Amino acid sequence: MEKKNIDWSNIGFGYMHTDKRYVSNYKDGKWDEGCLTEDDKIVMSECAGVLQYAQTCFEGLKAYTTEDGHIVVFRPELNAQRMVDSAKRLEMPVFPVERFVDAICEVVKANAAYVPPFGTGASLYIRPYMFGSSPVIGVKPAEEYQFRAFCTPVGPYFKGGAKPITIKVSDFDRAAPNGTGHVKAGLNYAMSLHAIVTAHEEGFDENMYLDPATRTKVEETGGANFIFVTKDNKVITPKSDSILPSITRRSLIYVAKEYLGLEVEEREVLLEEVKDFAECGLCGTAAVISPVGKIYNHGKEICFPSGMEKMGPVIQKLYDTLTGIQMGKIEAPEGWIKRIL
Ligand code: PLP
Ligand code: COI
Repeated sequence: MEKKNIDWSNIGFGYMHTDKRYVSNYKDGKWDEGCLTEDDKIVMSECAGVLQYAQTCFEGLKAYTTEDGHIVVFRPELNAQRMVDSAKRLEMPVFPVERFVDAICEVVKANAAYVPPFGTGASLYIRPYMFGSSPVIGVKPAEEYQFRAFCTPVGPYFKGGAKPITIKVSDFDRAAPNGTGHVKAGLNYAMSLHAIVTAHEEGFDENMYLDPATRTKVEETGGANFIFVTKDNKVITPKSDSILPSITRRSLIYVAKEYLGLEVEEREVLLEEVKDFAECGLCGTAAVISPVGKIYNHGKEICFPSGMEKMGPVIQKLYDTLTGIQMGKIEAPEGWIKRIL
């Protein structure tokens, strides 16, 4: 298979049209058998549930070319399960886990020419999503839905790749206690757009959201969970019912303990204690692990000792081990890597 003529090492995190996507429709209480299509356009009612009341959820995962030339995806069953959880919370029908995984495999296979070659730093981002497609005008769930999955080659989420970024403590809240922060609902992202645009206008790369109830605890950013390292090399990650259960974070906790022999604490993290940490990073599928050099909090700056030039040493080790596993350079735990081609 011949790869597309793309400058793989210089692509950013954006949408690029690829050849095929997967579609399945839900009607009369069941999903149809689904298929690949070249049609990237969606036609639906002007009154569709997704258009009126944002009834939609999505996922994000990546396919990689390994060192020995295979194409693999990373823990797709966990994305499938999280989409089940999102669908239930949004009163949408569940798209079965096995079907989700099969759909991902089909999409990647059909677009293999777009999977960036090993060593380019790029990967194929896969975006499965689901939405209410039938008309609703009273506030209630739609009766018909569509599941789709497309893919697009991507580079680093933050410009500059592994260079530390600067974030600000946001005055806006992202997710309420007992709300939808723990699922991947489109609405969580719609309501973060003003906060992210504001942060960018002020010269910051991202926001740190706090818990809305007390505004004393660290939650997450708009698209990634936090990971901190203490001065004695302990890995700390915030625990909260209103943050997204990041698959990258869950994987890093395992990597830290089992591959690197580090102590890990998943617990509430007070904003007040962040100044005492040695390293900070954002972790997620898109972000991988993006180091944070500086946090701006209402006139005060928290500058991590790891600085603005490179990742701190522990975050670097976590990054190298995780990406090594994903690219087939380091042996993966059982079931983490699904070979597609
Ligand atoms: N937090 C938010 C708000 C996200 O959008 C994402 C991205 O999916 C993550 C965390 C990271 O999750 P994952 O590692 O499963 O990609
Ligand atoms: C991801 O990491 O997959 C995300 O969904 C984060 C962001 C691009 C929305």
